[in-house]
Amino acid sequence: MRKPFVAGNWKMNTDSYASVELAERIASGSVETAGQSVTVAVCPPFVYLQAVARALSASSIAVGAQDIYFEPKGAFTGEISASMLKDIGCVYCLCGHSERRHVIGETDELINKKVAAAISGGLLPILCVGELLAEREASQTNQVVTRQVKKGLADLSAEKLSAVTIAYEPVWAIGTGLTATPQQAQEAHDFIRKLLGQMYGGQLAEEIRILYGGSVKPDNAADLMSQQDVDGLLVGGASLKADDFLAIIQAAV
Ligand code: PGA
Repeated sequence: MRKPFVAGNWKMNTDSYASVELAERIASGSVETAGQSVTVAVCPPFVYLQAVARALSASSIAVGAQDIYFEPKGAFTGEISASMLKDIGCVYCLCGHSERRHVIGETDELINKKVAAAISGGLLPILCVGELLAEREASQTNQVVTRQVKKGLADLSAEKLSAVTIAYEPVWAIGTGLTATPQQAQEAHDFIRKLLGQMYGGQLAEEIRILYGGSVKPDNAADLMSQQDVDGLLVGGASLKADDFLAIIQAAV
């Protein structure tokens, strides 16, 4: 059985005080669930990672980074390596979030290097995939997701796949208030799991967790989670409000 997984992506929000306060409120409200019936992670901005990791050290909530660079060290001004993130207590890292793809311009090839570097550096990558509205309207969802999954995981051995979580986040649902219906989410997750089955075999595909992301809120979390292939939720806006995020965690149990 795949354990539910709820991750909060704080994006470029909070400050030094608010990040720690938010982390503490989430930790105290999820003592009974986090780490037991549900895996919980928060992904604060780089600069607050260490403070948040410290604030969560006595809890079972993991900390994740929103991005990494693929080189281990050296002259890469402004970049952060997997080993640095591991050093300060990070467990997860997002790779290929749609804002990195479509705002910053990351390619599938770059994202693939980041996934590989995360695993080599001891982090657990969450590979984000998802189609644009125009791509969905042109019935290209499966094609886009196939490309992103295949290229994102290129050259990754079956042994290493167990470190990976996939997040299906239709771009048209991110930050828009337009959530995919539970059915649309299930269809995409089922498609991705079958694709992983073709790439890695059915057993590994059954074990990997596929999260849904895109305007997840307390009032739609349970319906999304009720779908067979929706194993968890990647939450943006609603993860910045402790009560909302806690309600989403509860809905995922
Ligand atoms: P949202 O963001 O929940 O604010 O739509 C989700 C994400 O970008 O991961």
